[in-house]
Formats: sequence, C-alpha cells, structure tokens
Amino acid sequence: MPTASSFVTTTDGTEVQLFTLTNAHGVQVSITNYGGTITRLLVPDKAGQLGDVVLGFDNMRGYQSPEYRKAGPYFGALIGRYANRIAQGKFTLDGKAYTLAQNNGANTLHGGQQGFDKVLWQAQPGSSTEGQTLTLKYRSPDGEEGYPGNLDVTVVYTLTKDDALQIDYTATTDKATPVNLTNHAYFNLSNDPDILGHVVTMPADRYTVVDAGLIPTGELRPVKGTPFDFTAPHAIGERISQVPGGYDHNWVLNETQGLHAAAQVYEPTTGRTMEVRTTEPGIQFYTGNFLDGTLKGKEGKVYGQHAGFCLETQHFPDSPNQPAFPNTILQPGEIFKSTTIYQFGVRS
Ligand code: BGC
Repeated sequence: MPTASSFVTTTDGTEVQLFTLTNAHGVQVSITNYGGTITRLLVPDKAGQLGDVVLGFDNMRGYQSPEYRKAGPYFGALIGRYANRIAQGKFTLDGKAYTLAQNNGANTLHGGQQGFDKVLWQAQPGSSTEGQTLTLKYRSPDGEEGYPGNLDVTVVYTLTKDDALQIDYTATTDKATPVNLTNHAYFNLSNDPDILGHVVTMPADRYTVVDAGLIPTGELRPVKGTPFDFTAPHAIGERISQVPGGYDHNWVLNETQGLHAAAQVYEPTTGRTMEVRTTEPGIQFYTGNFLDGTLKGKEGKVYGQHAGFCLETQHFPDSPNQPAFPNTILQPGEIFKSTTIYQFGVRS
C-alpha cells in the first residue's frame, strides 16, 4: 500500500496529505491531494542511480506562495475543467452563452481562477494488479468557475511494476459541459539546470497554429520543414531559437484510436527515457518558457527558463469555439474517459 504523510497545512489551516507510491525497483511517485499534484518522481538513470525528474516543492508553502500564485506554472498539477485556453473566456453551448474568468490576458487558462489544481481532492490509496494506486475524486459544482453542470471527476494514478506512471481520468456530468483534463508535470530527466539537451520525438505531422495570445486560428499546419517537426528525434535546444518564446504549442497526433504513441524523450547524459502514450488526440509541448528564476524548488534548485518541459496530453485548445476540432463537450449520461501513460526507462 502507498504510504501517507502530512504535507503541512494550507494557508486556511486544512491538512493536506502526501501519498507515496513505490514499486519493487525503488521507483517512487509522491502525490498530494492538493490539486492532485505530483511533487516528486524518482526514476533510475543508466547507472541505476535514482533521481527526481519533476519540478516542484518539498511542502505546501511552495505551492501557495504569492510568487508561485503570480507565476502560475501549475507544477505537476491536475488541470481542469478545461486544460489550456478558451478564447476570451467565452463559449456558447446549446444556444446559451457562458462566461469564464479571464486569467491569462483576455483568455481563460487551465480551468480559471481556482482550477482543479487548487482544490482538495478526496484521496484513497490502494493497489491493483498493475501496482500501487492513488484514487482521487472531486465534485466540481454546477457553475464553478462559470462552467455548467455538476461534474464528478475521478483520477487514478498507478505506479506500475514496469516503471510507468499511468493516469486514468473519468468524469460524468448532469448538464452538457466542456471537459479537457490533463496533468501538468514539468520533467527534467537530466542533472542539468535546463532541458535543452533532451531529445524529443513526436509522431505528429501537424500542429495547431496560434495567434499572439496562444489561441488556435483553426489551421492545422504541416510541421514538415519547420522547427516543429519532431517526427524524427531532435534535441529541444536545436531549433528552439527559431520559435519566438520557445515551444508552447499543441501537436496533432497522427494516431487517434485507443492508446497511441504521443512522444518519446531521451536524455543522453543520464540515459533516461520517457515514452508517452495516450488516448487523447493532442499534446501540448511546453518548454518552461515563462520560468524566470524567481521560483526556488526542491533541493534549493532555482527554476530558470527551460528548467523543465511539459507534455500535456489533451484535446486541442479552445475546442468549444472551434467546431472543426474534436469534440470536448460531455453530455449527461456519457462517461468521459482518458488515459495517459508516462513510461520510464534507460538506454545505455
Ligand atoms: C501553457 C503555457 C503556460 C503554462 C503554465 C502551459 O500549458 O501552454 O502557455 O504558461 O501552461 O501556465
């Protein structure tokens, strides 16, 4: 069974817990019920040395500091109801107009002011035939952050026997509502302060073109011949200077059926590898462009620009306003289901 310990109290005095899931190889993941946040993930390198490969803090204070709130990087958190952006914080559903908080310029980002990353989830540690589990549940009430319907969400984290972190999301609603759930872990598989040497492959021939506010224009543009082409392996740093601001885009995955490949990452100095598979049609590859050294994390590490990268499996940004994009509206009576697996390994 996973172990549970206190993760210190939130600013309003509520006790937050930290659960640690372990497998026989010593791989460990620690997750708090505050935001369902992954705070620590230990995986071996090619010499068998365990190291923490995610950005985060040792205790709740880090996640609740004014600097962290201001920067809003969402380290390791569950994101909902709608991961990524909704233009102008507005959408129309069944003829009714809805208004959400504009928390990212004029747009809504990652659920609004108090998204799923800032709420307390009900937590149940357990185990399955695959490995140790943590089941998190949250009821998002009708009207929360402007979204319609009571949305019941369950997220199951499983640390598998073969060193994968699997995340299974399910949700049901009593009114039609947009749903797009993801996890916002920042990975750094190296011992370096930045992730520019990591080699990334993404089986995606197109990406969603965005405007200056990072809202899709609707165009799915071929990556061929551009710095967005990761259909063959490329170091993150190789062409990043050709992308103003760095990578912060949604790639359109070639495969969409069942669990399919989304990304492969290889870090040459440690030999660590991470393979991402998902049931989602898209993936936001974000290279920590907005980190600027103001946040100090675990082990006193200063998180500067490109200190970590995110591979956020998802439906496309702003889908509620883009009828041609895959549907993100969950109807009453339907069950939302989504699975993402981060598989760790080494290459010598
Ligand atoms: C977004 C970035 C944003 C980051 C942290 C990513 O998912 O695409 O634009 O800065 O999350 O909020």
